[in-house]
Amino acid sequence: THCILLGAPVDEGQRRPGCLMGPAAYRVAGIADTLAALGHGVEDRGDVVPAAPGQESCDNPAVHHLPEIISWTNALREATSAALTDGMPIIMGGDHSLALGSVAGVAAHAASISRPQFVIWLDAHSDFHSIRTTTSGNLHGTPMAYANGRPGFAPLPPFPNPIPGGNICMFGIRSVDPAEHGAMQETDIMVNDMRVLDERGIVAPLSAFLDRVAAANGMLHVSLDVDFLDPSIAPAVGTTVPGGATFREAHLVMELLHESGLVTSLDLVELNPFLDDRGRTAKLMVDLVGSLMGRKVFDRPTRSY
Ligand code: ARG
Ligand code: MN
Ligand code: MN
Ligand code: MN
Repeated sequence: THCILLGAPVDEGQRRPGCLMGPAAYRVAGIADTLAALGHGVEDRGDVVPAAPGQESCDNPAVHHLPEIISWTNALREATSAALTDGMPIIMGGDHSLALGSVAGVAAHAASISRPQFVIWLDAHSDFHSIRTTTSGNLHGTPMAYANGRPGFAPLPPFPNPIPGGNICMFGIRSVDPAEHGAMQETDIMVNDMRVLDERGIVAPLSAFLDRVAAANGMLHVSLDVDFLDPSIAPAVGTTVPGGATFREAHLVMELLHESGLVTSLDLVELNPFLDDRGRTAKLMVDLVGSLMGRKVFDRPTRSY
């Protein structure tokens, strides 16, 4: 695989400074060497530079940094769809508001080649607010609703080709606000909250989703939020929620995604290196990228996804 690294030092989508150091931390933690050691080509296109922000505003007074996030969305949509014509974009964040742009880019690219787009959202949070319903005003809590084509996003540009709920799978969910819950009830998104993982484990629900992606010849975007992981193994994130995925569960997800052969793009989001403990969270995220891109101890019999 030709891997294209895109830095997205966005941190205006939430209020705790530090996510803008994320791309540098992934580079220091050796993401390029990790990919190269697995036999992949690596092209680091540097950090995406957004246009100067405009003057946009909306009627929800809680929302902050809307013009900055609109500029990031436009820049990341273009950078991500351009990268997809050449290889597999790996967007190194930056807070999760970067997915307003990255997912728009993958959806636009998929539409241009007439393939359906699927998304797997690995996160403690559903990020299913519109910019009208968010009470925190933090736009990192909105990208999944934007990608699903929910109303309430003007003055953001309309999402290019909304992703149907049936093409979206969430894993690790354990923090959902009331307005998000209400909006999600109206969709057929496959929501695997922690209760599902406790009862059924990783393999059955993930395989069911991957079967659908394969049957549709879909493109699969993976959006990995650091807070998907338990805070005891991944402390470098502003929005920790107890009871997250373990080291072993997280690697298993990545290994199954690799074996499916379906992944076409990846976001790494919410790493705040200022909160890290001697780089351990950055290193864990890079290790998970290694598993996603084919690192394993022994070969397994081929799965029939
Ligand atoms: N739902 C909460 C909010 O809207 C938390 C969102 C956290 N999102 C994230 N990408 N970490 O503020
Ligand atoms: Mn600012
Ligand atoms: Mn998130
Ligand atoms: Mn989260």
